[in-house]
Amino acid sequence: MANLAIDARAVTKWFGEGDARTCALRDVSVEAKFGEMLLIVGPSGSGKTTLLSVISGILRPDSGDVVVDGIDLWKQPHDAIADFRLNRIGFVFQDYHLFARLTTAENVAIPLILKRRPWDEALGDALRYLKIVGLENRAQLPPVKLSGGEQQRVAIARAIVSQPDILVFDEPTASLDGDTGRSIIEFVKHQVLNEHRCIVIVTHDSRIFDYADRILHMEDGRLKSVDLGSAK
Ligand SMILES: Nc1ncnc2c1ncn2[C@@H]1O[C@H](COP(=O)(O)OP(=O)(O)O)[C@@H](O)[C@H]1O
Ligand SMILES: [Mg+2]
Repeated sequence: MANLAIDARAVTKWFGEGDARTCALRDVSVEAKFGEMLLIVGPSGSGKTTLLSVISGILRPDSGDVVVDGIDLWKQPHDAIADFRLNRIGFVFQDYHLFARLTTAENVAIPLILKRRPWDEALGDALRYLKIVGLENRAQLPPVKLSGGEQQRVAIARAIVSQPDILVFDEPTASLDGDTGRSIIEFVKHQVLNEHRCIVIVTHDSRIFDYADRILHMEDGRLKSVDLGSAK
């Protein structure tokens, strides 16, 4: 049987100490298949970003396992987890995390440079992906010269440029207008279906609901499934 893309089991994560201690994830289990687009919705503070970070190899859970394509992620050595983040995951951060001192094209090229692709080739690919998100004319500008929606598109281009097979997007269309958000999600969905990748998206954006295979609802650190019909 084929591996699940993501198989998180009974994941718990606490933050803080003493009175300030908060439980961000309470015994959360979630599965996602290759070829699937999974959406997670829920109020602010419910644990969505924490969950994405735990399944992407960014944040270590206090307990529980995250098995990604058959590999028990948090049981791997440090270097293997770093390699996993670079080679398997395309992450879009809620607040973009672009490098201010680099141009837009250089920001997009970073994953390829880290994978030791020659500079010219990496920049060439970065330009192709900037074109896909409609920003080829912004390639030489620093992020500070771009609008929030444009920065969001740069972050999306950077997440997909190295064609990782697991995409994890944290509110990726919040700053995008209707047509742009829809066309980017259509492109990503197409890739997911044709190339057997998996995408997990946290979103409040009801425009994306139509593209989802499944929608889960997060509340107070817990996940439950939502009937797709009633969510639309
Ligand atoms: N680094 C952190 N330190 C302390 N508390 C945190 C940290 N990150 C998240 N939290 C807390 O964990 C809970 C879940 O946060 P988060 O995963 O960011 O929620 P969401 O993405 O759904 O808005 C919130 O109560 C938040 O305050
Ligand atoms: Mg969040």
